[in-house]
Amino acid sequence: MRAVTTAPMDRLQIVTVPQPLRLPSFAEDVAAGFAARPKKLNSKYFYDAVGSALFDAITLLPEYYLTRAETAILREWGWEIVRALGNPVEFVELGSGSAAKTRILIEEALRVQRTLRYSPIDISAEALRASAGSLVESYPALRVCGYVADYFSILDTPHLRRTEKVLFMFMGSNIGNYEPPEAVALLRRVAALLKPGDGLLLGADLKKDRRELMLAYDDAAGVTAAFNKNVLVRVDRELQADFDAKQFEHVVEYDEKTGGLHSYLVALSEQTVTIGALGTTVHFNDGERIHTESAYKYSPEDIAEMARAAGLSVSRAWFDGDRRFSVNLLVRA
Ligand code: AVJ
Repeated sequence: MRAVTTAPMDRLQIVTVPQPLRLPSFAEDVAAGFAARPKKLNSKYFYDAVGSALFDAITLLPEYYLTRAETAILREWGWEIVRALGNPVEFVELGSGSAAKTRILIEEALRVQRTLRYSPIDISAEALRASAGSLVESYPALRVCGYVADYFSILDTPHLRRTEKVLFMFMGSNIGNYEPPEAVALLRRVAALLKPGDGLLLGADLKKDRRELMLAYDDAAGVTAAFNKNVLVRVDRELQADFDAKQFEHVVEYDEKTGGLHSYLVALSEQTVTIGALGTTVHFNDGERIHTESAYKYSPEDIAEMARAAGLSVSRAWFDGDRRFSVNLLVRA
């Protein structure tokens, strides 16, 4: 039998989902964040082209165990994960980034089914175009339907409605960037898309020793510091501001009670920054902080509780050998 293959470009489609008008723009979010006390910037703004590339570099750092631990779980258990809901199944991934780890699941799925549809969603157009293009080149039996969107924008639209069985994926501890009540709200929104028999694969970093956690977010080479400061470079470029990133220091704190790992940019001197596009200036006291990211850590019990609060239940959980990270299959409760 001769294999019938379609040209890669015929198996690739990318849709840019417009930001709904009621969602704040970057300029509005920056204005509101600097008006707040303490000052803050949403971590979703890290991911411009440079920020996405810096995150990819972070995943290679010795201190940043998360990606390696999750990859180890997918290598060991991917065969079981792709069979867990029955086949055929299709994949919808929230926050796909470079989709490097997803390749493991794509390859496993293509062992048990002839074709696969994969719908990656990412806020970075550059990361999505590059990864989607390379995936259709790699796998002749794969169709990719990518969406450039913020999760909250796309979850409101009919784009993700599927008649086939779907495994939604929210990997890499992306859930950790949400405050716990918002994480539950986001999972509820995904839960509303699940048909009976569908599932949500959730990658969540586990609570662990404070030292190991802090080093993962404050590496010796300073890549995470550069990743954090890049958001100021983005404000400079996109909103005609005059931040000097060298005047800020990357600082992390871990709150064992809540599991919250918080990142800040701390002003190294008193300064006033002009933001041209907003027609304003922003004043910083010496030592004043901008909260730029939270990365919440969960215990397996916390994950079960979060799932329950979202109307879901954990049907299976997989761990790496060192129990640093977890991959959880959530289904309708
Ligand atoms: C991409 C959101 C999973 O929170 O660990 C890495 C981002 N921040 N180092 C994380 C990040 C600092 C990362 N996520």
